[in-house]
Amino acid sequence: MLSTKQIIDVYISFFEKRKHKQITNSPLVPENDPTTLFTSSGMQPLVPYLLGEPHPSGNRLVDVQNCFRAVDIEEVGDNRHTTFFRMLGNWSLGDYFKSEEIPWLWEFLTKELRLPKEKLYISVFNGYENIGYDTEAEKIWKDVLVKEGLEDRIFADDTNWWSRSGTPDKMPIGEPGGPDTEVYFRFDDIEHTDKCEGDNPVKCECGKFSEIANSVFMQYIKTEDGFKELPNKNVDFGGGVERLLAAVENKSDIFQTSLFKPIIDAIESATSKSYKENQREFRIIADHLRASAYLLDAKVEPSNKERGYILRRLIRRAIDNLGEVNQDQLSSILTAIVEECSKTDESLKANFELIKNSILEEGQKYKKALSEAKKFLEINVKDEIEVGDELKGFKIISAETAFNLYTSYGLSPTQIKSMGYTFNDQEFADSMEKHKELSKTASSGMFKGGLADTSELTIKGHTATHLLHQALRDIFGDKLHQSGSNITSERLRFDFNHDKMLSEGELRKVEEIVRGKIKDNLPVHFEIMPLAKAKELGAIGLFDEKYSDNVKVYFIGDYSREFCGGPHVEFTGAIKSFRIIKQENLGKGYKRIYAKVD
Ligand code: ALA
Repeated sequence: MLSTKQIIDVYISFFEKRKHKQITNSPLVPENDPTTLFTSSGMQPLVPYLLGEPHPSGNRLVDVQNCFRAVDIEEVGDNRHTTFFRMLGNWSLGDYFKSEEIPWLWEFLTKELRLPKEKLYISVFNGYENIGYDTEAEKIWKDVLVKEGLEDRIFADDTNWWSRSGTPDKMPIGEPGGPDTEVYFRFDDIEHTDKCEGDNPVKCECGKFSEIANSVFMQYIKTEDGFKELPNKNVDFGGGVERLLAAVENKSDIFQTSLFKPIIDAIESATSKSYKENQREFRIIADHLRASAYLLDAKVEPSNKERGYILRRLIRRAIDNLGEVNQDQLSSILTAIVEECSKTDESLKANFELIKNSILEEGQKYKKALSEAKKFLEINVKDEIEVGDELKGFKIISAETAFNLYTSYGLSPTQIKSMGYTFNDQEFADSMEKHKELSKTASSGMFKGGLADTSELTIKGHTATHLLHQALRDIFGDKLHQSGSNITSERLRFDFNHDKMLSEGELRKVEEIVRGKIKDNLPVHFEIMPLAKAKELGAIGLFDEKYSDNVKVYFIGDYSREFCGGPHVEFTGAIKSFRIIKQENLGKGYKRIYAKVD
């Protein structure tokens, strides 16, 4: 039977044989793409190319991408959801389309992975406004199935659409998306519940059907006037490795596959509890600690903000579900995780000490937070109200106080109750919902404002970032280089290595240089060239050397050359103004500059 690593290898070579170039797994924390907190799908680093920019490796690409989806934290606990997963991906950037993608996918699943064809089910898009039912995909699938002697098992649904923000109505202007076709695997050991609609995989909620493959026909962009065609008809395929492994091993429970079994076994030994009786808890522990290991490997640190907050929540939730374990027991689970996952991600092994120490330390901090929360409660909650037998001995606190404990000390509702307090669950859930809405708005703001949007200000900010980079090097020399950037339509942010904070005079000098280059109205263009040539020309910037035969370099007149995916303005004069608004010390010899363009 194929292992996780073999599934990945077989997939890559299947598409390499079909003229695809392997591209590198982008960092889990996007370095140079501010569209979101984490890389959450294989297409995310490819957005500029799906929008029409040429890719240096050509128009057929394949990879495996590490992904993290924070929105799925609450889903974990069933047989198939994880927050961290690996996504197989193949792309056609305006090259092949449905009639190649669908038969290839079928061949990969049934011949390479040897999945029993009678267990596979299909869904296609049934239309939205001016975009019709996907009869083309349906017809291609019918031909494939007939050849296999299979009866029709194609279902149509309006959820068969994919974009980073979901269905067509939820997409922001400028966002690409398209109809998709999904493949589901049927597990025979699970019985449907009343909520399912028979063997319709799209309407199944019990876990009998697991979505294992999704081909998106990314050919539209949302505009003020509705959906328009993108310059290219693209294919964006994604298949979750963990779920494919479950199908290959015919295990309806992902956590019982060869990938997770050693981790579950380690949790059993550490806690002396059985998986069978604690399924939900064990799944949360396994998923959250595994995701934490990958996030720590990507240099995220637990904190109260953004990425760090999510990591903190994962670790604390895992600890809540673990109950009483000592440091050695927790370490033994982490050893099992790193042992298993480093078979495909070697850096986990190299960073094991960092991963282990950070999780153990966060565990200690959590203990401290718990005791501080106890003190807070002792001081603030004086009245003990007895209600009914059921709540005997519990002290009642307001949902607001409980929610405060949740946000300020990171305590979960279960944890608060285990401390002897109770509150109105509904009111707590309402506050939670409000909180979620707020963070959703915050993250969609980040999403929209990113480089991947096509807004004019973002593109201007992007070109200005290149000018800023070069201007800093003009003043401080070539040792200075970019360590990250984040561009929204509101402002641009640029991180770089430099020991001292810049003086007021130095900041004004940088501004002056950038403004000068804007005034010169320099032309901007890109060239695709071999890596060696780009290096010879002295191209700067962040890029990944793995698999890059050819690279894309953006030139701004003779002034700047950077490895970059684009997009940029055509002439620097399109930028009307440039102003530095803030400087920050990031520590460890790194500084950050915020600037604004119009
Ligand atoms: N981008 C598509 C997904 O994430 C393939 O499902």
